[in-house]
Amino acid sequence: MSVEFVDVSLSYRSAAAGRGLRHRSAPDAGTGAPATAAGNGLEHVNFRADDGGFLGIMGRTGSGKSTLLRLAAGLLAPDEGRVLVDGRDINARAGRGRRWLRREMGFVFQFPENQLFETTVFKEVAFGMRHLGFPRDEIGANARRAIELMGFDFDAVKNVSPLGLSGGQKRRVAIAAALASKPKTLLLDEPIAGLDPAGREKFLELLGRLNDAGTTILMVSHNSDAVCDAARRTLVLDGGRVCCDGPTAEVFADEGTLARHGIRPSQAGRIAALLRARGYDVPRETVTRGAIFDVLKDIRAGRLTPAAGGAGSKEAR
Ligand SMILES: Nc1ncnc2c1ncn2[C@@H]1O[C@H](COP(=O)(O)OP(=O)(O)O)[C@@H](O)[C@H]1O
Ligand SMILES: [Mg+2]
Repeated sequence: MSVEFVDVSLSYRSAAAGRGLRHRSAPDAGTGAPATAAGNGLEHVNFRADDGGFLGIMGRTGSGKSTLLRLAAGLLAPDEGRVLVDGRDINARAGRGRRWLRREMGFVFQFPENQLFETTVFKEVAFGMRHLGFPRDEIGANARRAIELMGFDFDAVKNVSPLGLSGGQKRRVAIAAALASKPKTLLLDEPIAGLDPAGREKFLELLGRLNDAGTTILMVSHNSDAVCDAARRTLVLDGGRVCCDGPTAEVFADEGTLARHGIRPSQAGRIAALLRARGYDVPRETVTRGAIFDVLKDIRAGRLTPAAGGAGSKEAR
């Protein structure tokens, strides 16, 4: 499904006021969070994630990434502007409710392992589908598929209490729960933070396969390598505003702008920069693992040589 924000603003101050929560001693005093002009939220945000696309969302802590995902899922409503999913305003009063969103969107919150509450892994993964009224046999088949997709032996784990699992395993259960209803769109809030490298790799491969099969993915991450390798487009937020939006390789090619918004280059990008400093003509868009491997292969095969007299070309020889 496509997800589009049209001039979306949200202030937690007015959200609190709207819920009658605003009083003198509250709420944003003393949090130490950098205040946006919007009052800690989002300000005039515009972007479009295409149907079937993979959008990486980056930005320093407090820049508004989780807020953006919650708005996209309809868990928050904007003060101004419109959130369109498949072209439909999900907050329109005349709409047919948000049940279809629950059915078609999977949401993995930040640290989802802290929100597990069922007594068995199976019940945990089945919970959302039960709530949505899926038929019993479909729940069984979908839960098995999702649990296996996340690398578990279904029969070994189905009756186990999630609370007894390791942190990484709990995370995988929480992700299985989001995948189980076969959502057309996945909203992922820092899903790989805290996963070990092997788990991260496997999960990113799974996301790649789901995306290839047509699932739209919006993924918040601080991991530049993961975003470069997985996301086709990247959006960077700072202070509740969009400061970069474009094809991932183009966004990451502009190291200066990235640094200003607190984002490190990918490892591939750093290797490319080192090679450039040694006189190799490596394009700035070389930011993915695949792209830097190709460059290194070319150098090894003698197809790419440092420019004569290029900076540091002596060292390179
Ligand atoms: N429930 C809330 N009440 C008040 N302020 C909030 C709330 N949630 C987030 N904020 C503030 O909104 C800003 C954006 O937060 P968030 O979207 O969580 O950022 P990120 O996910 O990029 O770290 C921050 O300044 C944060 O302190
Ligand atoms: Mg967040």
